[in-house]
Amino acid sequence: PLVTTGELVTRAAAARSAVAAFNIITLEHVEAVIAGAESVSSPVVLQVSENAVKFRYGRLLPLARAAVSAAERAAVPVALHLDHIQSDDLLRQAPDAGFSSVMYDAARLPYAENLAATRAAAHWAHAQGLWIEAELGRIGGKAGQGGWERSGQGGWERSARPPLDAHAPGARTDPAEAHAFVAESGVDALAVAIGSAHAMTTRTATLDHDLLKRLSATLDVPLVLHGSSGVPDGELTAAVAGGIAKVNIGTALNIAMTGAIRAFLAAHPEAVDSRKYLSVGREAMVRAVAGIIRVLGTP
Ligand code: G3H
Ligand code: ZN
Repeated sequence: PLVTTGELVTRAAAARSAVAAFNIITLEHVEAVIAGAESVSSPVVLQVSENAVKFRYGRLLPLARAAVSAAERAAVPVALHLDHIQSDDLLRQAPDAGFSSVMYDAARLPYAENLAATRAAAHWAHAQGLWIEAELGRIGGKAGQGGWERSGQGGWERSARPPLDAHAPGARTDPAEAHAFVAESGVDALAVAIGSAHAMTTRTATLDHDLLKRLSATLDVPLVLHGSSGVPDGELTAAVAGGIAKVNIGTALNIAMTGAIRAFLAAHPEAVDSRKYLSVGREAMVRAVAGIIRVLGTP
């Protein structure tokens, strides 16, 4: 059934486990995440990023409708979340498209601007009954931080800025600042920068567990880990024990899907039926989803 992100995260936090939130891009992602979660009898969050919407020709609804329909028929609780939203237009589409939550991403802005934009987004979101997550500190590696940026013409272009280093000075979330940010913005959850980075293709991130302990002691909202594909199993387990209640995973599914398809096409150069390789890619994602949820523990 379709449930709300707020209830899944609250349940996970109370159980000292974490709910896995997987980024979906294609219909195969939707099917694989739900099948993977069903195989381990666990709730799951399907999240659609602003970048995924751009890939879908700027349209949220086709993927959202597929996700809502699959969630309603799922054997496990499934919630829908809009991820890394910078566009107010996209934010405003969330409730009608079936989303119960959003991650409003103004972390690229200086503190005061991040706070003002996030507070306004939280005010609007709460009036719609939406649960809202924001980010403080700089989790490296994502578009707009050395990837893609808005061009003068309103489109997108490659950023000239280098990707942000997750270990750069100032990249970490400061506990006292985070406490004030949560109190003044009114957000329901906070994405924290503790050493993970987006889009890592090796699982080599090391997390700052001492900082996580301090953040979790200082803040009374659930904490969210982004860029979790690059975080090894043991580090993930420790992060959940340290207070992370929502774990965002995107790249790991693409690694699984693309690797499986690449191997299949290399072994079958004559293959042309897209169902043949998409099903191989989808099954690889099902296994990846189940594996990650097993590490996190079922909320
Ligand atoms: O918000 C999405 C996640 O932070 C995904 O990060 O692609 O590095 O797993 P990842
Ligand atoms: Zn993220």
